[in-house]
Amino acid sequence: MTELENCSVLVVGGAGFVGSNLVRRLLRARVAKVQIVDNLLSAERVNVPDDARVLFTEGSIADDRVLSQVADEHEYVFQLATYHGNQSSIQNPLADHEHSQLTTLKLFEHTKTFRRVKKLVYAGAGCAVAEKTFDRALATSEDAPVSLQMDSPYSISKIVGEFYAVYYFNRHALPTVRARFQNVYGPGEILGAGQWRGTPATVWRNVIPTFIYKALKVQALQLEGGGVTSRDFIYVEDIVRGLMSCATHGKPGEVYNLASGVETSIRQLAEQITKLTGSSAPLDIRPRRDWDRSGKRLGSTEKARLELGFEAEIRLSDGLARTVEWTKENLSLIDSCIAKHDQSMRLC
Ligand SMILES: NC(=O)c1ccc[n+]([C@@H]2O[C@H](COP(=O)([O-])OP(=O)(O)OC[C@H]3O[C@@H](n4cnc5c(N)ncnc54)[C@H](O)[C@@H]3O)[C@@H](O)[C@H]2O)c1
Repeated sequence: MTELENCSVLVVGGAGFVGSNLVRRLLRARVAKVQIVDNLLSAERVNVPDDARVLFTEGSIADDRVLSQVADEHEYVFQLATYHGNQSSIQNPLADHEHSQLTTLKLFEHTKTFRRVKKLVYAGAGCAVAEKTFDRALATSEDAPVSLQMDSPYSISKIVGEFYAVYYFNRHALPTVRARFQNVYGPGEILGAGQWRGTPATVWRNVIPTFIYKALKVQALQLEGGGVTSRDFIYVEDIVRGLMSCATHGKPGEVYNLASGVETSIRQLAEQITKLTGSSAPLDIRPRRDWDRSGKRLGSTEKARLELGFEAEIRLSDGLARTVEWTKENLSLIDSCIAKHDQSMRLC
């Protein structure tokens, strides 16, 4: 990744789970400077590395005063800010609009005349494009049709961000590249990170950190819809490599899936995590979540492999083992972030 050496990079949402992993990797790639813009809405300050090359601008990228602190000095820009996640967006679509959509639009509008930017990478989401099916899922390719039937404001925002990325490339030659992620997991995803966002999903975030935490506490793992739902899980180190490949080798105007290409059912996942943690708690079978119609999905890996030379390398079993270790080492931090929301959780 020598292209990034001595470069200046902007990471919007850089204190978050993926963002903080990206920032640490960029620092190891010897970038000259990383500016992080993050309002800590779903992130903890502890995720901002203590490094002289890091400039942390705390605030919303949708706020003009914050935006004015972003100068035309960065060769690479990553837009990772979002209103995390599906359930929070259903609870508060306006907040989702502000933090998932307006963030992208304001950033694109602000940077459209910048001359130094070589690539602006936008984090898209595979859930916004996947076919809604509980039958056998086929790997979703980048050119799959986009349905109007979205399950959440979050999915709408993620795809609208892609529309803007294409528009700003076509109209203003802003060199946007869209990285469409499948489900990311790994060290650095802190349950309860940031501020209360209206539902228990503030605490529980995604399925893997939730299952690992609960299994370590010997609590039952809940399987909505019996756990037949499947996802394509990609380890955060792989996502970060994929994002950097999009920055260095992605073609402006294009989109690339960042996926493992491996489908895993939630039941298989629960069984693996139960085994890895040695939990003796039984599985808790529940009905399907009413808003979730995207039962089974995985991403096609072909285009990223052929055009970026990117392939996910970390197998789920290895990634889960590393994530279990990280969770054990960071249990007191995670417990304290969860405890912040105790009162709000009780009122739900
Ligand atoms: N984690 C996944 O499985 C996954 C899957 C598909 C797409 N993505 C996308 O990847 C990106 C990163 O996701 P993540 O999992 O790291 O989530 P995250 O919640 O950890 O990171 C999002 C970050 O954006 C910040 N943020 C929110 N509003 C902001 C604002 N107005 N201005 C500046 N920063 C703001 C949050 O504080 C947080 O640090 C998101 O765009 C998300 O939609 C993630």
